[in-house]
Amino acid sequence: VQEQNLRIPGPTPLPPQVREAMARQMINHRGPEYAAIQAEVLEGLRHFFRTEHEVLLITGSGTGGLEAAIVNTLSPGEPVLAVSIGVFGDRFARIAEAYGAQVRKLDVPWGQAVTPDALAASLASGPAVRAVLLTCNETSTGAMNDLATLAPVIHAAPGAPLLLVDAISALGAIDLPMDSLGIDVLITGSQKAWMAPPGTTMLGVSPRAWEAHARARMPRFYWDFSTQRQSQQKGQSAWTPDVVTVIALQVALRMMRDEGREAIFARHARVAAFTQRGLEDIGLSLFAAPGCRSRTVTAATVPDGVDTSELLRYARTERGVVIAGGQDRLAGRMIRLGHMGWVDEPDISPAIEALAEGLARQGFLIPTATGA
Ligand SMILES: Cc1ncc(COP(=O)(O)O)c(C=O)c1O
Repeated sequence: VQEQNLRIPGPTPLPPQVREAMARQMINHRGPEYAAIQAEVLEGLRHFFRTEHEVLLITGSGTGGLEAAIVNTLSPGEPVLAVSIGVFGDRFARIAEAYGAQVRKLDVPWGQAVTPDALAASLASGPAVRAVLLTCNETSTGAMNDLATLAPVIHAAPGAPLLLVDAISALGAIDLPMDSLGIDVLITGSQKAWMAPPGTTMLGVSPRAWEAHARARMPRFYWDFSTQRQSQQKGQSAWTPDVVTVIALQVALRMMRDEGREAIFARHARVAAFTQRGLEDIGLSLFAAPGCRSRTVTAATVPDGVDTSELLRYARTERGVVIAGGQDRLAGRMIRLGHMGWVDEPDISPAIEALAEGLARQGFLIPTATGA
C-alpha cells in the first residue's frame, strides 16, 4: 500500500518502531510477559497524566471511555452539567442521558471555548450537580477549553461536583496535570497523541472518583472500574485486551519518555502555530476563536463556492494527503487537519500545499505565498 500522509485528527500515523513491534507473535495475555508490558505502559501513562493515582487500560474506543467514566461514577437521576463546545461535548451529554442522568446542558457557540464566568454562572443558575462533563480539546471545531482556569470554578461550586474530562484528543500532546487540576476521571484514546493504533481507552481515576464509584448505580458490566482494577493488580486485564495496541503503547511511550514531556508539549504548540499560519496564508479562515485554538487539530472554513469534498478528494488522490472534513452541521464547509503524536512541520507543509493547489484548481487564487 502506498504511504499516505494521514492528517486527520486520529487515527494518527505510527512511527516505524511502533509498527515493527506490532508485527510480533501473539502472547499470553494472562502470562508474565503481558504483565510486564502492561506495568510499563501504566507507569508511562501516569507520567503523562501527571497522576499518582490509578490509570485503567480498557479495550475500546474513546467513546467507550466516556461511557465508562459516566456509568462508574453516577446513578440514574443524578443531576449533571454537560458543557458542550461541539460534537464531542454533545456526545458526552447524550451518553449521560442514555443512562438516566438528569442532564443540564451549557451549550457554547461552536468555535469558542467556555469561559470561567459562563461556567460559574451556569453552575450557579440551577441546583447543585453531582458532576461536570467537560471536553478538553473539541476535535470537531479545533477549539480548546482551558482546564487550568475552569477546574477551580468547578471545585468551588456547591456540592463540589466531580470533574469528568474528555481529553481524548489532547492528552499526551498538551499539559493536563490530572492531580494538580483535581480531575476525577481523565479519559484519552490510544489512536490520538499516543502514536498507537485505535483500540485502547485509558482513564485516570482519582480517589474521589473511586468513592463515587462505590455508590454509583448506573448499570455496567464490561466497563466496571473495580473489575478492571482487580485484574490490573494481578498484571492482567479483566477481559481479553487489545494486546497489539498495548504493545504499541509500550514502544510509543518509550519514545515519548525519550523526547520528554516538555519537548513534546512545545513541539505540538509549534506545529499548531505553523498549521494555523499556513492555512491562513492560503486564504482559509480558522474556525476556532483566537485564544482558544487547539494545539492538536486545526479546523478551517473554505471560501464560499469551494466544493469541499472535491478539495479533499484532490488532496487525497493527487497528493496523497488525507485531510478530514467537517462533522455534523459543519459538514461540507470545513476542513480539519490533525497534528498530534508523531508529527512535525515537514508533515504539515505538503498538506497545506495540496490544499493550495486544490483551491487553485477550483479557481481560488492564493492571496500570498503558501505556508510551506
Ligand atoms: C474529543 C473526542 N472525544 C471523543 C472521541 C470519540 O473517540 P472514538 O472515536 O475513539 O470513540 C473523539 C474522537 O475523535 C474525540 O476527538
